[in-house]
Amino acid sequence: MNQQAEPFLKDAQELAELADFTQVHVSRPHESAHLHVTGRATYTDDIPVVAGTLHAALGLSQKAHARIVSISLDKVRATPGVVAVFTAADIPGHNDCAPIVKGDDPVLADGVVQYVGQPVFIVVATSHDTARRAARRAQIDYEELPAVLTAQQARAAQQSVIPPMKLARGDAGAKLARAPHRERGEMLLGGQEQFYLEGQIAYAVPKDDDGMHVWCSTQHPTEMQHLVAHVLNVASHNVLVECRRMGGGFGGKESQSGLFACCAALAAWKLLCPVKLRPDRDDDMMITGKRHDFHYTYDVGYDDDGVIEGVSVDMTSRCGFSADLSGPVMTRAVCHFDNAYWLPDVSIAGFCGKTNTQSNTAFRGFGGPQGAFAIEYIIDNVARSLGLDPLDVRRRNLYGKTERNQTPYGQIVEDNVLHELIGELEATSHYRARRAAVREFNARNDVLKKGIALTPVKFGIAFNVTHFNQAGALVHIYTDGSVLVNHGGTEMGQGLNTKVAQVVAHELGVRFSRVRVTATDTSKVANTSATAASTGSDLNGKAAQDAARQLRERLAAFAAERYGAGHVTPAAVRFANDSVVVGEAVVPFDEVIANAYLARVQLWSDGFYATPKLYWDQAKLQGRPFFYYSYGAAVSEVVIDTLTGEMRVLRADALHDVGASLNPALDIGQVEGGFIQGMGWLTTEELWWNDGGKLMTHAPSTYKIPTVNDMPPDFRVNLFRNRNAEDSIHRSKAVGEPPLLLPFSVFFAIRDAVSSVADYEVNPPLNAPATSEAILKAVGAVRAMRKPCAHAAQGVRR
Ligand code: MTE
Ligand code: MOS
Repeated sequence: MNQQAEPFLKDAQELAELADFTQVHVSRPHESAHLHVTGRATYTDDIPVVAGTLHAALGLSQKAHARIVSISLDKVRATPGVVAVFTAADIPGHNDCAPIVKGDDPVLADGVVQYVGQPVFIVVATSHDTARRAARRAQIDYEELPAVLTAQQARAAQQSVIPPMKLARGDAGAKLARAPHRERGEMLLGGQEQFYLEGQIAYAVPKDDDGMHVWCSTQHPTEMQHLVAHVLNVASHNVLVECRRMGGGFGGKESQSGLFACCAALAAWKLLCPVKLRPDRDDDMMITGKRHDFHYTYDVGYDDDGVIEGVSVDMTSRCGFSADLSGPVMTRAVCHFDNAYWLPDVSIAGFCGKTNTQSNTAFRGFGGPQGAFAIEYIIDNVARSLGLDPLDVRRRNLYGKTERNQTPYGQIVEDNVLHELIGELEATSHYRARRAAVREFNARNDVLKKGIALTPVKFGIAFNVTHFNQAGALVHIYTDGSVLVNHGGTEMGQGLNTKVAQVVAHELGVRFSRVRVTATDTSKVANTSATAASTGSDLNGKAAQDAARQLRERLAAFAAERYGAGHVTPAAVRFANDSVVVGEAVVPFDEVIANAYLARVQLWSDGFYATPKLYWDQAKLQGRPFFYYSYGAAVSEVVIDTLTGEMRVLRADALHDVGASLNPALDIGQVEGGFIQGMGWLTTEELWWNDGGKLMTHAPSTYKIPTVNDMPPDFRVNLFRNRNAEDSIHRSKAVGEPPLLLPFSVFFAIRDAVSSVADYEVNPPLNAPATSEAILKAVGAVRAMRKPCAHAAQGVRR
């Protein structure tokens, strides 16, 4: 029994009574943990293949932007083992796998290629290896066209994938002009490869009467179903998409699993044979989009205490060749520029640059981190310019509880716990004392320099697109009393199935092991949303609860009649400890079920949920896009080597608000994972394209994600005691994405350390990721920027 959970339970008596049967607000291992650790968890590539299965590989564009003059695939076809080659001309339906802007994402390039790595043809062979080797033997002649590669170039060329966005409140221009202090600047924030451990994969098996069954590693089975149907020119009911689990998705399998599902299905359709498509890591990285990198310019006006009076920011994202999810990503960036802060007069512009690179897509946080990073950078500058502790400046700008609490997009921040949360973290991390110690260390050391920072997070929970906020579930009780749950969400390691099973076990008063969650399957729950925006357990937990409650009510009515001898009302029947309590009678759950079946009681039910209170006007960028906010804060302490640029995180303390946690162990896992993943993004993970637009960091040899060695040796993660003010599933809060913003503290601690080489007098020109190279450059730049009088005052020669 986890300590964290106790305050949320009704009373100690009940807790003792229920013991093992307490299902929600308790730590429980991931439902597949025993399979993960023994290698028995079935991922898509582990599904035993059907006899006659063929293997596909994709032939990729070698040019960033070019017209295809001719394609010669004879050598590919002539390769022994090759069964067929398909191009765009072979697609019976629409050559498109776009999630939003229809027609924007060709499955196979047709006439023009728009980035290095774009799939041009599919090779199908008797083995995976043969298909890959054969794909390289194509001869494509190109006529090169001008390529635009970076966000800034796209901006200069006024080339965007969707129209620019603008959100303004008050008169930022007037406030800027009048403010006692004013600062302008620009910075860059890098992109990030999702680096799911299990790569993209789809396995398509043709079925009776134009049916197609696709097993796919995807966060969005319903969208895969729709895309495959469009490509094959069949109705959605012909296509069944199934996913038991992913080895990570992180947003990279929200829309972009579509290309792989469509290619596998197309080949299977044409050949009437099962076809598996599993690109290797390099191809996966060359083909798929990543987190959008951003370029910002800003202008901020503030008073002597660092309180922001007016601020304007202009954000440009590198979207790649198509819109994909870039619009919603920018909307979320715009809606998270405020992060934790009240910005009375503000102007936020977003430009979605169209470039000849991979089409960037969802990645944990979905633009939220990119928006919030900008204001944190600005506040960090403001504090340093005034010589104040950035924590004090952050605090002065925080949203108020009852006033100064409206976001630029019009939503009132009703559930603000930032003040308490930051106060608690400041105390438990000993921020002030450690900051003084860092200053002292830096005064004594010339080569190694330490830095520390505390940064807060406020993250809006719900899809900005209101209608995505719905979910369905099915709960079956079999006559032996075992329970099977199916819901529209997908399991990617985050523990969604565990939480949903907990919710169902709790409703029915049965032990956890009675409940099994099956693969997500478009033929069971229809019209599902992507498992994204951190809403998986909020939505599917509520839908499954609805289904389980209906069952419980039906069973209560039956039990009251059968065992209550007319003295017990259905409402008084209790479900607990694998038993049904009807007045004096305590009947085993199995027995009630067996008898209910004989009495012809329906033992399965569907459930549905639609998040209340949401509305959003995308044209005006106004409304209530979020059901509630999740909060958090972290303190990180780092040390840098000013001779090499190397960096270590010495200690990190995170305090995160997950409401009344459904499962503290899983939630702590999400906070830890999010923190480390965000830290990688802001420090070592650097995407680099050459002048020809070819991504050169397309494997772990050149793209450095964090390893266990990069874990802070002292890492303290705690959950903030809170209950969701809104009626979410058992008053919990979503946890998937918000913790990714906690390691902003790492980046700003690095900046703090870098600025120490010039006595904290200048704002380091440090962009993210703060790689060793970037840190070293920033140290050099800061030394050069140092005010000459500072040297003289210290009387030292350097
Ligand atoms: N955790 C693991 N282990 N693997 C993942 O792929 N994806 C993240 C987050 N945590 C991810 C993860 C992202 S991008 C989202 S949106 C949420 O999980 C989705 O799941 P949830 O809504 O059930 O939290
Ligand atoms: Mo998460 S980026 O919303 O899949």
